[in-house]
Amino acid sequence: VRVHDLPTPALLADVAALDHNLATMGARWPGRALRPHVKAFKCTALARRLAERGHDAFCAATIREIEGLAAAGLGADLLLANEVLDAGRLGGLDAHITVAVDSEATLDAAARAGVPAVLIDVNVGLPRCGCESAEAGRLADLARSRGLEVRGVMGYEGHLVGNPDRDARDDGLSTALTLLRRAWEDVGGPVCSGGGTGTWDQNSLVTELQAGSFVLMDTHYSRLGLPFQEGLSVLATVISGGTTRGRRYAVGNAGLKTLGMDHGNPTIDGAKVWFVSDEHVTFSPDDDADTPLAVTVGDRVRLRPAHIDPTISQHELLWLIDGDEVVDRWEIDLRGW
Ligand SMILES: Cc1ncc(COP(=O)(O)O)c(C=O)c1O
Repeated sequence: VRVHDLPTPALLADVAALDHNLATMGARWPGRALRPHVKAFKCTALARRLAERGHDAFCAATIREIEGLAAAGLGADLLLANEVLDAGRLGGLDAHITVAVDSEATLDAAARAGVPAVLIDVNVGLPRCGCESAEAGRLADLARSRGLEVRGVMGYEGHLVGNPDRDARDDGLSTALTLLRRAWEDVGGPVCSGGGTGTWDQNSLVTELQAGSFVLMDTHYSRLGLPFQEGLSVLATVISGGTTRGRRYAVGNAGLKTLGMDHGNPTIDGAKVWFVSDEHVTFSPDDDADTPLAVTVGDRVRLRPAHIDPTISQHELLWLIDGDEVVDRWEIDLRGW
């Protein structure tokens, strides 16, 4: 099958970019030093590809992701790097599960569910989950008193990872990692988990990197100039208008329901994207480009998304491509909650 023959909209992954990204990340963070975050791609087939390279300890954001990984036989070491109160579903799974906790309530939920191990989640500057650094030791004592194994700490510097200024990321990290280091000293345990794609070569504290976006990247992350390649696109068919023969714009059949848009519009090589609506993308040739895009009804165009996670989670299938050839199809089987 050729890419042109796929039903559209279709989510495409470039195999060469994927393999390049896994090899690049794996050279710096081999084996379980990398804890790939499956929330970025929600696909057990891709998780298996990582496991085959030795990265068989995963990070997840939802209970559904943990359940799906366990059911796929990928449960060797799963971290739910998120706070949950309905942990009961985790109890009976065939997997070794650790959950993040940042309060007495989340810790109680883990203990009641029979989850064996926790990480104390520390707020390192992102106003989201995580306890205060100074509170971590007390929570660890409490967790141990409830019979939980405390493996260490986690702290995610999500307020820094997307900053395109490398020096600013470094500055922010020195504060963030001081908070995490202090907490780790109080908590103890072998694990310090954190980091992301944007700080992959700057986070000098963590024992395991929680990165996900690097697998296929997006235009937002590409602004950082990292050595990972953009391999994700949404294939659309031009269904109206056309940029040849004097038409001002063309309309593709991939809209908001196929894209994560919180980081902005998708891009199309050689074109200017005007706007995206529910089912459509409207664009015109970019006259500043070396080869402004010329398309007519029936042609295919590729949209490069600005944010990988919420783009992939809107699709049921990921088509693997090698040039113009479709080589495989993977189910996005970890969707839902
Ligand atoms: C808890 C946690 N760890 C790590 C990451 C890193 O992901 P990325 O590779 O997108 O930087 C995220 C992303 O949002 C996250 O929520």
